[in-house]
Amino acid sequence: MKPLIAANWKMNLDLTSATQLVRQINLIKNEISNVDIMVFPSHCYLSLVASVLNQVGAQNVSEYAPGAYTGEVSAEMLKSCGVTHALVGHSERRHIFFETDDILTKKLYQLKSVGIVPIFCVGETLDQRNRVESVIQHQLQPILSFDAPYIIAYEPVWAIGTGQSSTPEDAQSVHEIIQSMVGPGVQILYGGSVTESNLLNLLKMPNIHGALVGGASLKTESFTSILNIASKYEQGALI
Ligand code: PGA
Repeated sequence: MKPLIAANWKMNLDLTSATQLVRQINLIKNEISNVDIMVFPSHCYLSLVASVLNQVGAQNVSEYAPGAYTGEVSAEMLKSCGVTHALVGHSERRHIFFETDDILTKKLYQLKSVGIVPIFCVGETLDQRNRVESVIQHQLQPILSFDAPYIIAYEPVWAIGTGQSSTPEDAQSVHEIIQSMVGPGVQILYGGSVTESNLLNLLKMPNIHGALVGGASLKTESFTSILNIASKYEQGALI
């Protein structure tokens, strides 16, 4: 399977900078066919990104079907804007917006009803590091009974936005646990302070199939380097 590099822009960029960045990504994408590239912008830029790229992700989706839910964005709406994938269970949604397993399950089924593929995120906090296996096993429960295609992102909470990525070996040991639970065909991304400096060694791990990139996806130079490294590794030029 091709490596998948997904850019999670979070709540960053104005319309002008989002437009410039996605155009730059499209230029690189035209030169790189051996890497799957996805961008997860804020909802208000989804149509813009979908007009340029063929794989576009939403950072969130409503747990509800369309109706009187002021401020919410339904799975149907996302689909009509060209969205192909959506994050579910990102640690910022779990911790800042108190999203529970029940809410995450509802979101998964809203996405399934319109054929959007979820990227289901799991990851332990610093306090949970000594029992990472049971934390991850618990967090995976909503997706284990999900009967449609999905991708997993393992993002240790202590590594997100801190500049302190997991070591490739530590990440691999969690990816191996996840793979044994979800089965061999499921793609598992690593996320948490991925940069052009640490990506290569992460990709060399057998159960790391790509990356979910936050901070380093916001600048053309760093994101371009990340895409080039993934492409060269896939070609066998960087071993
Ligand atoms: P980061 O964010 O790359 O800035 O650590 C990753 C994420 O939260 O998806």
